[in-house]
Amino acid sequence: MKFFIDTADLDEIRELADTGLLDGVTTNPSLIAKSGGNILDVIAEICAIVPGPVSAEVTGTETDMMLAEAEVLAAIAPNVTIKVPLTPAGLKACKVLRDQGTMVNVTLCFSAAQALLAAKVGASFISPFVGRIDDIGGNGIDLIDEIVDIYSQYPAIETEILVASIRSPGHVIEAAKMGAHVATVPPNVLRQLFAHPLTDKGLAAFLGDWEKTGQSILEQAKTRAKAAE
Ligand code: E4P
Repeated sequence: MKFFIDTADLDEIRELADTGLLDGVTTNPSLIAKSGGNILDVIAEICAIVPGPVSAEVTGTETDMMLAEAEVLAAIAPNVTIKVPLTPAGLKACKVLRDQGTMVNVTLCFSAAQALLAAKVGASFISPFVGRIDDIGGNGIDLIDEIVDIYSQYPAIETEILVASIRSPGHVIEAAKMGAHVATVPPNVLRQLFAHPLTDKGLAAFLGDWEKTGQSILEQAKTRAKAAE
């Protein structure tokens, strides 16, 4: 499973890119607004930090405007992925952009039917929003299951399922069990994926026992290297 980070916060992106775990980044107009920067600069900086796909969302609601904005955004860096909403205008823009060879992420997907349409217009990624479905009392993970099932019936579909609106490590694990291609996670969820109390407890015990031996791996290596001279 690929991991994208769902933020436009440059400090967070820099820190988490250092882990070597990031395959890409997703942003949306709300995340750009939260970053306080202007979109062209923010996307350029993100693309310089993370070499994988970086989603930048258009804000026009008509196809022509979406395509004009997409041209500006795609010129920022080769790894920009144009994000379009799952509307008739967005799907139309997706088809044009894909025909031009531009990567497209179709966002705001809340049904299997919508995911089918995105695949039909050749989307590079479809973004079903699991958390927002849970928020209204539905089951977002069931939607991922449905999309994985449908896409697997058609080997010609190349659209990757990018699980979005993730709220917890459980969402990531459930989506991974189903074989979803990508999870875009907020920074706090990525950090939660590392954490387990037994890891911390086990490490503290190992290090405590080690300290009592007075040994040092590096000192021992130095001593041996000197003896061999
Ligand atoms: C994905 O690309 C979206 O930007 C994001 O996952 C939305 O998440 P939210 O529902 O937490 O705002």
